[in-house]
Amino acid sequence: MARLGIVAEMGSETRVAATPATVRQLLALGYEVVVEKGAGESASFPDDAYTAAGALVVGPDEAWASDVVLRINPPSEDEIGRLADGATLIGMLSPGLRPDLVEALAARPITALALDAVPRISRAQSMDVLSSMANIAGYRAVIEAAHEFGRFFTGQVTAAGKVPPAKVLVAGAGVAGLAAIGAASSLGAIVRATDPRPEVADQVKSIGGTYLKVEAAEEMASADGYAKATSEAYNRRAAEIYSEQARDVDIIITTALIPGRPAPKLLTAEDVAAMKPGSVIVDMAAGQGGNVEGSVAGERVVTDNGVVILGYTDLPARLPAQASQLYGTNMLNLLKLLTKAKDGQLRIDFDDVVQRSVTVVRDGEKTWPPPPVQVSAASAVKSAAAGEGQRPSGGAAAKKGPSRGGKAAVIVGGIAVLFGINAVAPAPLPQHFTVLLLSIVVGFYVIGKVHHSLHTPLMSVTNAISGIIVVGALLQVTSGNLATQIIAAVAVLLASINIFGGFSVTRRMLAMFSKGDKGHD
Ligand code: NAI
Repeated sequence: MARLGIVAEMGSETRVAATPATVRQLLALGYEVVVEKGAGESASFPDDAYTAAGALVVGPDEAWASDVVLRINPPSEDEIGRLADGATLIGMLSPGLRPDLVEALAARPITALALDAVPRISRAQSMDVLSSMANIAGYRAVIEAAHEFGRFFTGQVTAAGKVPPAKVLVAGAGVAGLAAIGAASSLGAIVRATDPRPEVADQVKSIGGTYLKVEAAEEMASADGYAKATSEAYNRRAAEIYSEQARDVDIIITTALIPGRPAPKLLTAEDVAAMKPGSVIVDMAAGQGGNVEGSVAGERVVTDNGVVILGYTDLPARLPAQASQLYGTNMLNLLKLLTKAKDGQLRIDFDDVVQRSVTVVRDGEKTWPPPPVQVSAASAVKSAAAGEGQRPSGGAAAKKGPSRGGKAAVIVGGIAVLFGINAVAPAPLPQHFTVLLLSIVVGFYVIGKVHHSLHTPLMSVTNAISGIIVVGALLQVTSGNLATQIIAAVAVLLASINIFGGFSVTRRMLAMFSKGDKGHD
């Protein structure tokens, strides 16, 4: 049985790599768990809570001597030296940006896994710390902006006068951007967003924002699920939009990122100077060089015209309990993958793309960088784009369906059947078949054109139709003809399956949105 050690973070870090709740589940994987004294204090997880969860609270030396060391931030040189021979270190190691750290880790007979190198594929989402942390950071960016902003976000009509809603611009609608859009619009602000990937338009809209399309927008999905660099034409048009918006909005939150490159500069000093006094900018990319001219990583800057620019780089750590809970769960999910037998023994399988991608050093041998991973979502976007040029992905779903030739064949076949039946069948069968065939053709086209987001109301309509079928079939059940009785009974059965199935699916969907009474750890 291997021993997992949760070590304390250094400096001003407030998060911790495991919570009492995740410790319980780590124990269930067969590990012995030790926690460095005080490791969870700043995240409101006292030592007692870890003890109650079944962990042993120990001193720093003992925690660092564990077989598997769980961490958030990269280790210092001293800390690398504290790892036992043969130990495994798991944390956010930024191997792409820190070749020096990779070399230092590979100089020891250890294994190092970078949780921030999980590929952006659906199977690995439950381990994606960058997304969990960006989600928290986007939310917190809005809270920081609201704290600095001297007005309401929401519009109000009060006895003392009318208050207009704040206007917020979010540049970059990735994980952090979408979280910021959701938080700002739920506070009541008018929210607009830009992003070179047109497929985010629907997502922005669904959480209450308005997508500002840069007309020169190109297809931006890359094979690894991250954005590619934008073109000159795009940048020129985007710059005009930012200048217009800077004059109009009160808050700007920038999250634009292209991995492996310095952050793109979106707002110039002139744009900032054009903003109203009291406006707030949160430059979330300040740590990567900044999206805004004048932002300083980790600092709060006030410009001559009274605009506050926040360049905080520790936004997730400003919600320590929440960030630790999500980070701890991501870590637990990786450990579940590495401990399939639940026997407290960690095994790395290089045939698994997720395990291969996170492994930076294996038994003292450098294994970074891993082979590139193809993201299925990106290739789907690409293949759709290949046929139809540039357009939002929302349209991609609607464009799916039979080819022109197939449609023509369906229509011609339907008309032929109609004529055939009309020629031979006695009245009133031909009229009934005509109605049936026409309704099949009309239904086929109507349903095929309905956008995915309208499938729920469509289901209600089909339920109503099923109700009519049940009434009609019940009237026919009493007919003296056995064949009619059988068809009516089958119709009642099938329509009832549709009705009751619809109800149970709706019930399950509503349950997903209901706020339960579950506790949090
Ligand atoms: P992401 O990759 O999910 O999203 C980045 C978005 O920027 C993408 O949607 C991309 O299409 C867009 N983008 C790229 N070029 C652009 C351009 N020229 N104009 C407008 N949009 C553009 O990344 P994620 O996870 O949302 O992170 C966003 C930023 O926030 C990163 O810089 C990240 O390092 C930073 N971050 C900052 C934290 C803090 O404490 N300040 C904490 C977590 C993340």
